[in-house]
Amino acid sequence: MRVATVKRASQFELVADKIAPDKSISHRSVMFAMLSRSQSRITNFLRAEDTLNSLNIIRHLGAEVKDDGDTILIRSDGIKEASVVLDCGNSGTGMRLFCGLLASADGHFVLSGDEYLCRRPMRRVTEPLRSIGAKLDGREGGEKAPLSIRGASIKAFNYTSLVSSAQVKSAMILAALRADAECSFSEPSLSRDHTELMLKGMGAQISTTNLTTTIKPLKEPLRPLDIRIPADPSSAFFFAVAAAITPNSSVLIRGVTLNKTRIEAFKVLEKMGADIEYIELESRYEPIGDIVVKYAPLKAVTVDSNIAWLIDELPALSIAFACADGVSVVKNAKELRVKESDRIDTVVTNLLKCGIEAKQSSDGYEIRGGNIREATVDSYGDHRIAMSFAIAGLRSGMIIEDTECIQTSFPNFFDLLAKIGGVNES
Ligand code: S3P
Repeated sequence: MRVATVKRASQFELVADKIAPDKSISHRSVMFAMLSRSQSRITNFLRAEDTLNSLNIIRHLGAEVKDDGDTILIRSDGIKEASVVLDCGNSGTGMRLFCGLLASADGHFVLSGDEYLCRRPMRRVTEPLRSIGAKLDGREGGEKAPLSIRGASIKAFNYTSLVSSAQVKSAMILAALRADAECSFSEPSLSRDHTELMLKGMGAQISTTNLTTTIKPLKEPLRPLDIRIPADPSSAFFFAVAAAITPNSSVLIRGVTLNKTRIEAFKVLEKMGADIEYIELESRYEPIGDIVVKYAPLKAVTVDSNIAWLIDELPALSIAFACADGVSVVKNAKELRVKESDRIDTVVTNLLKCGIEAKQSSDGYEIRGGNIREATVDSYGDHRIAMSFAIAGLRSGMIIEDTECIQTSFPNFFDLLAKIGGVNES
């Protein structure tokens, strides 16, 4: 088991130009390249376990992949039946989006993953996909992986989802591309929209009005993707919190997506008092630019809206809450319970170990700002819990057990952290 020891940091000015490339966009880039018959070109792909698993899966599905370690070139002449179990590792995004991509492909496919992924709910994709003709099954009637898929014809649909989930939406959009007529998908609040933006950029006819996305089935293969993956705001956010809780510190995050469905946690940090600047520099499928975060004393906040836009950042945000003046409250976030760990439980349990007053509710938590104490905390196999408590360690020192999981999304996290504080991971 890998264990990290983080030492208290003093004032820093960090230029973060090596933040991990975006995980959501990386997964999608290799999957969507399968929908073109021309060569797609991807640079700055996230070379972490989750996304390398997706790249490996498309190889098993017959894609020709040339990878010189810098640029990935992908050409496909259609999805082929794979002779092996497709291993999604720890990735819910990988598994759920492949369900949509494979729902209409010719052949039989099996998707599996690690012990954590095999515990996570899959009915949220298997059920809607089955309702439109897809043939999927899995343990517990399709709730748990391993999942098996036999490609089938997809009936046109108007589906209303009860959960705001980009994974569910993306799976249904991918299935709709092969449906027998125009389809629509509605969600209770807008979830991240990379799928819509990227597929539109490749020529798909997709439009969104209010909370309903309309998808026309493909008449021909899409144009190839030509993309440089921007930095991941969810990974960048750990360093945003680091600057926001360390007096006289700042971080400049370069080349990050400024998509509004992804930077809500920065807006909350700003509301808490941090000094934040967004500098839009280019637009490629979506807006990309720099974010500067500077320290300022933080005050407590209530977070109860736009939850889907900051769900992945709530563990890191909870460290900012622990350093703020007053009681911060998170509500309407029960999705936290079905992430890589039950993040309501793992955040609160670890904060209590650090001497911070924290209380769970069914759909969130309350955290009273105070003095974080050095403690030994568990990652519970969850990369974002491991990295959040490493950032907490900048205030007090911290020992984080079971840090291998960081490899799923941000392999160079500790290299970057070492620039602002003492770190030892072994
Ligand atoms: C993701 C969507 C979100 C997010 C996950 C990545 C995606 O999950 O938490 O880390 O890339 O579509 P949900 O769709 O379950 O909200």
